[in-house]
Amino acid sequence: MRRSSAPNLSRREFIEAGCVAGVGALLTPALPAAQPPAASLPLITKPIPSSGEQLPAVGIGTDAFREDVREQIRDQLKRMSELGGTVIDTSDDYGDSEAIIGEALASLGIRDRTFIATKISAGGGADLFQRSLERLRTQKVELLQVHNLTGVDKLVPAMQEWKKAGKIRYYGVTTSRGSQHAELLDIMRHYPLDFIQVDYSIANRDAADAVLPLALERKMAVLINLPFGRSSLFRQAADRKLPPWAADIDVSSWAQYFLKYVISHPAVTVAIPGSTKVSHLEDNQRAARGRLPDAATRQKMEQYWDHRS
Ligand SMILES: NC(=O)c1ccc[n+]([C@@H]2O[C@H](COP(=O)([O-])OP(=O)(O)OC[C@H]3O[C@@H](n4cnc5c(N)ncnc54)[C@H](OP(=O)(O)O)[C@@H]3O)[C@@H](O)[C@H]2O)c1
Repeated sequence: MRRSSAPNLSRREFIEAGCVAGVGALLTPALPAAQPPAASLPLITKPIPSSGEQLPAVGIGTDAFREDVREQIRDQLKRMSELGGTVIDTSDDYGDSEAIIGEALASLGIRDRTFIATKISAGGGADLFQRSLERLRTQKVELLQVHNLTGVDKLVPAMQEWKKAGKIRYYGVTTSRGSQHAELLDIMRHYPLDFIQVDYSIANRDAADAVLPLALERKMAVLINLPFGRSSLFRQAADRKLPPWAADIDVSSWAQYFLKYVISHPAVTVAIPGSTKVSHLEDNQRAARGRLPDAATRQKMEQYWDHRS
């Protein structure tokens, strides 16, 4: 995936997408320092350990993509691409999500600039995967994941074959439940996965105990789901002010605080916050820009979050 190979970008889009290193920062002096434009800071990318390919550290989750928000979805995918984001996480099991994404990417002409991560669910096989490819209007996907660890022993060998055949570039497994972390660890020890996907947020740090360290050791890329605890973190943050030092890590909203905490973990490759509104997408994409907290600042973020009342 190469952002810089994106065709047909206007000059503004090209600069906004971060294709010209350092230029964006010079273009925005008139805007308030606390809320710089979405793409004025350098894009944060992280490598996939099994290949070295770099991915922008914030993508999008599409669990809530439904027919009634089709237009907003198209607008979001367009805007994400303009802002440099590439990773779209979906599933054969998310209603019309794959079909809506496939149609949007085709009509926007941005399929070659996106990294599609889809999933195969319980009982799935070649037929179900083929249906995903058709709905996504593509010959291959970048990442195929076993949804919720169901049927791993049958599906991993199949995914290895599909990888050899060029139908997928990477494969992995997903969970979003702490109760499955022990099983996830066993699977990670057993199979040479390219990716895992796991739940992790500033309010749900269990994955940092063993899953994320093992991902580092086994050189597996990590997608993070539920970075906002299905939006519960916003309710918990209501009426709370960001700490004054948030500006030092280019954070100007709670969404950015939550996402920068997640993507600054050394094992984390990409966070996939779910959104159905362009304003949320833009807010979240800002977290893929500028400075990341170091280990000491991450600790300060945890303390500030834990001592809210
Ligand atoms: N087992 C699995 O494989 C698994 C399980 C769960 C999730 N996932 C993946 O992970 C993705 C993320 O999980 P999720 O979507 O359930 O939960 P989430 O990302 O933790 O939270 C999504 C919620 O946050 C809101 N939101 C997003 N950006 C916001 C912002 N900047 N300000 C305020 N609110 C904001 C969204 O509202 P709006 O919709 O109004 O924008 C939505 O209600 C899913 O979409 C899916 O792709 C995978």
